[in-house]
Amino acid sequence: MARFLRLIALPVLLMSGAYAQANCEVSISAGDGLAYDKNSIEVSSDCAEVTVTLTHTGNLPAAAMGHNWVLSLTDDLTAIATEGMSAGADANYVNSDDPRVIAASSVVGGGESTSVTFSISELDASKSYSFFCTFPGHWSVMKGSFVIS
Ligand code: CO
Repeated sequence: MARFLRLIALPVLLMSGAYAQANCEVSISAGDGLAYDKNSIEVSSDCAEVTVTLTHTGNLPAAAMGHNWVLSLTDDLTAIATEGMSAGADANYVNSDDPRVIAASSVVGGGESTSVTFSISELDASKSYSFFCTFPGHWSVMKGSFVIS
């Protein structure tokens, strides 16, 4: 009986481990248009940290068609994106000192990728969070929902 239990316990542990890892590490991409390949990202509340990797699959340089990945409460999206435009390219179009900014990657151009790692332990799963690109002119369409489940 003990041997039987060991045999089923191992695959279950392996499966749950793989699931947790997949859920804490997210890949997202964007090309030469104003769109990510995902409209929503879901992570587990069990994640100690979440890592988001953004890959720019297009050809245009960052100066012309840059993309980044910024996370905030949905209610703060417009203000952060508007102020990010003023922060300028050298600041990756985001004021990273702004406490409303939960996470922000650098801006990448075609063929480049970047990642950002952050804790979600202070976030409230019952609230609405959004991710978006703060490159000027992108945020109004280049966004999605960030769900903690
Ligand atoms: Co963009």
